[in-house]
Order: sequence, then C-alpha cells, then structure tokens
Amino acid sequence: MKVKSLAIGSYQSDNNIFLAPMAGYTDYPFREVALKTGYGLSFTELVSAKGLLYGGRANDELVFCGQDKKRTAIQIFGSDPYSMRCACESEYLKDCQVVDINMGCPVPKVFKNGDGSALLTNVKKASEIIKECVKSGKNITVKIRTGLKKGDDVAREYAVMAEDSGAKLITIHGRVREAYYSGEVDFEAIKKAKESVKIPVIANGGVFTTADADELMEKTGADGVMIGRGALGDPFICAKLLGKQPDFTLKEFILQHIDNLRSFYPERRGILEFRKFVSYYFRGAPNVKDVKMQLFSSEDFDKTKEIISTFLTK
Ligand SMILES: Cc1cc2nc3c(=O)[nH]c(=O)nc-3n(C[C@H](O)[C@H](O)[C@H](O)COP(=O)(O)O)c2cc1C
Repeated sequence: MKVKSLAIGSYQSDNNIFLAPMAGYTDYPFREVALKTGYGLSFTELVSAKGLLYGGRANDELVFCGQDKKRTAIQIFGSDPYSMRCACESEYLKDCQVVDINMGCPVPKVFKNGDGSALLTNVKKASEIIKECVKSGKNITVKIRTGLKKGDDVAREYAVMAEDSGAKLITIHGRVREAYYSGEVDFEAIKKAKESVKIPVIANGGVFTTADADELMEKTGADGVMIGRGALGDPFICAKLLGKQPDFTLKEFILQHIDNLRSFYPERRGILEFRKFVSYYFRGAPNVKDVKMQLFSSEDFDKTKEIISTFLTK
C-alpha cells in the first residue's frame, strides 16, 4: 500500500496505518509496544463520555497514554451532544489532540442507550454531536459502520454529514452492526463514501496480511487503513506495510508487553489481561498446545516470562 502522512485537522500523522480501538485489548500496555512497530495513530478503546464527566479511577486507566500522547486518539461514546462536548473539554482529555467519536459499537448494552451504532439511524443527532464536539477545539474524527443490517449502506451519507459537521477524518468499518466483526467487507460502500468527501477516509475491516491491506486500499481508494484483530495476530503487520525491519523480535515484543502489563496493573489483573493475547500470539505456530496450557495456568509474571523465553528462540 502507498504509505503517506495524513492531515487530521491541525494534527499531522506520520503515516496512514492506524491501530484500531479494541475494548479489552488496546489498553496502554499493548498500545505502547505496538506503537513501536510504526503505527501512525492508535486509539483507546471506547470510553463513556458521561463516565468521564462523573470521574473515577477507571477513567484514568482508560485514557492513560504515557509518552504516547501524540500518537493516541481517545475514543468516546455517548449520544448527548453537550455531554460529549464536555467530555472533549474535560481534564482527562487535555493532552489529547484527536478525539474519535464511536458510531459503530454493536454491543446491545451500548446500542440500547442510543449510543454507538444506534447513531447510524439518526443522522441529525449524529451531526449535532459532531458539531458540539468540534466546539471543544479538538480534532474530531468519527468511526462508523456501513449500517445496521445486511443490505444497509449509510457510509456515504454519514461521511458527507461528518465532513459538513466539522469532522477531520472518518473511519469506515465496512460491515453492518449485525455482522459484528466477521464476514465480507463492503468495499463499494467505502469507495462511494471516499469519493464524496475531501477529509481523509480510513478503511477498516479484515486486514490480516499485507495483501489484505493492499486490496482494501485498492478497492476503496481510501487514504489509509485501520487494523484491528490482524494487529493482535501479527504484531509486525504495520512494520511490514511500512517496508521496515522491526527493531525487535516477537519474543522481545511479547516480553515488553508483559513488562508493560506488570507496571500498569496489579499482578492478577495483568496476568488475566495477558491470557487474552495468548491465542493471538501463537496462532498458526506448530506444537503450541503445551505452551498455551502452561501460559493459561501461570499465575505470575516471572513464570509467564520464563515460559515465553524458553519457548521462543527469537
Ligand atoms: C474485541 C474487540 C473490541 C472492539 N472494541 C472497539 C471499540 O472499543 N471501539 C471501536 O470503535 N471499535 C471496536 N472494535 C472494532 C474494531 O475497531 C474494528 O472496527 C473491527 O475489529 C474490524 O476490524 P478488523 O477486521 O481489522 O478486526 C472492537 C473489535 C473487537 C474484535
């Protein structure tokens, strides 16, 4: 794919390969090490705008960006325009240059409140939210899906609305709500949206290999790609797309990830978080059954690191 820098309002990204927001995965410990492989921008998982206004320790964890403030967008969700703007203006987001609005989350708990992908049925409300958030002075971006059910295509309409409302970039996950995260990506819907706006359009969905990224870019004409699950299964996918040799090995990547978890969470919590990655890190590798069992039963970081160090030669 053609690598290029992107202007997101006043923010300039180094390149057009973005790490997707993934609740329960793209926390600070993972983003910190993933960003070292070259992503132009990463995103926090969705954070409740109202939750940011009520305060609480969970927020500190969710929005923490450490040294990576410049390359981390904070994603917020909600459907009350004023609360969304107040969240953008809150102390929690003071160092953040790009705020992304979630208009794609399919989860019932979120949808039932009129948040996330429910906003795809209310273009007027969606526009009000964007306009209100833009008043905060942040560079506002929006992440949508192509609709709610099979056959829907709201991408073009929402891209035009987002641009008219002041958004500086739109990411289109080329699937509908009912598809969740699987199934074919609607290249055509993304392409039509891209052709209708001047702001950068990022295509998302189904990138697991560099060939997938090339196809997504080619078939949609998008300005860049956002990679979700592919970034968990292949920690070096971004480096490959950039044509760069990563500065470290898979073993070093995983050990760094573990060290980050160790500094960020209490031990038990960190171990549980790490277990979620085990299947991704070892997907497709031969003779992993035993090592996976060992990792799933390890209760402390030293033991976990020892297992990784013994199993992976590099
Ligand atoms: C476990 C999981 C959690 C996710 N959490 C979020 C989220 O917090 N915000 C969001 O906009 N999208 C979320 N997504 C959607 C991804 O950002 C992305 O749009 C989707 O996975 C499609 O990309 P992929 O095919 O490259 O994985 C999540 C996806 C997964 C699998």
